[in-house]
Amino acid sequence: MDLHSLYPGIADLKRRAQRRIPHFVWEYLDSGTGVEATLRRNRVGLDRLGFAPSILHGPIECDTQVEFLGRTYPMPVGVAPIGMAGLIWPDAEGLLARAAAAARLPFTLSNVAAQSPEDVAPHLGNDAWFQLYPPKDPDIRRDLLDRVGQAGFSTLVLTADVPVASRRERQTRSGLTNPPKLTPKLLAQIAQRPAWAMAMARNGPPRMRTLDRYTDNSSNLPPTAHVGYLLRTSPDMEYVHWLRDAWDGPLIVKGVMRPEDAEPLKQAGVDALWVSNHGGRQFDGAPAGIDVLPTIRAATDLPLIFDSGVEGGLDILRARAAGADFVMLGRGFMYALAALGAAGPAHVIDILRQDLKANMGQLGARTLEEIPPILTLD
Ligand code: FNR
Repeated sequence: MDLHSLYPGIADLKRRAQRRIPHFVWEYLDSGTGVEATLRRNRVGLDRLGFAPSILHGPIECDTQVEFLGRTYPMPVGVAPIGMAGLIWPDAEGLLARAAAAARLPFTLSNVAAQSPEDVAPHLGNDAWFQLYPPKDPDIRRDLLDRVGQAGFSTLVLTADVPVASRRERQTRSGLTNPPKLTPKLLAQIAQRPAWAMAMARNGPPRMRTLDRYTDNSSNLPPTAHVGYLLRTSPDMEYVHWLRDAWDGPLIVKGVMRPEDAEPLKQAGVDALWVSNHGGRQFDGAPAGIDVLPTIRAATDLPLIFDSGVEGGLDILRARAAGADFVMLGRGFMYALAALGAAGPAHVIDILRQDLKANMGQLGARTLEEIPPILTLD
């Protein structure tokens, strides 16, 4: 039976993912922070938006192609950065990079991923983006940017919405610590997921390999430290200016939620803004990403990327109609990897392509430029 019959939507992959990975890994992937009100708001906000369907437009072919930052993409979709993706599924970063390259879509590697820029370099296409939790030390910054450029990454993404760590209570309840410690509680959860355990055993325990060379010889780091947090700082505008000078390619700032942040970032030479509430993982009092998108669109002519809650083609159309040029998914790709392993990312891309076309057909839209105005449905 083909994958579309078994898993026609991302919700089907999500259900299977939960059955295939240990509970603490599931909680790491799926949770938000607090009581998860922001996580729910992301979904509710998207569902509240819609369009009046079109009739009597005759047969149409729908073309999902877009231009973004000087490149042409077959659809406005890419892979958001996922820290420690290799904990969720072994070789997640390599599998995502390959699937995105094959589909000619952007792939973003997190600097706290389980693979380094050098590890994924052989798998990258022409649209590899690197996401930075900003290192404090200027020498580390320079070295990292050199490595990223040499590995073939074209675009730098500065994540600005983690000024402090969030609490993610669900993760704590599951027994997950920072860094992960193999307690009897975690081992019992792993024992219930043999496919994941076997694959992990083959690949070895995941760690933040990009940061290895900055921590290996560092005697001043406690052995229990979460290296990702120890090396990073909370960036300010000066940091953005520094990065703009140091990086030749496109620079994107991720985590923008206020319209008034747009103009200073444009003045600093940033090429695009990534509107996101981090999928509800950082601040439980944040509005839905989709609800602030029109206000940021009105405040700037910079290209806008959107993520937070996207689960299908209709969500991509909603985001486009609300002001986004491009849309990224975080969890969707990871549910697919956990559910289907290597076949997962390409299947999600296929789901999104089919769903996008099916919904464009309902709207009589031959291209993404022809999407009608968005409606608030309640
Ligand atoms: C993330 N996200 C994230 N963002 C980032 O800039 N750097 C990172 O290392 C991570 N790590 C990470 C891990 C996990 C498990 C998740 C689920 C998310 C946030 C991510 O890039 C994106 O903003 C959200 O996932 C988008 O929301 P959806 O698509 O998951 O609803």
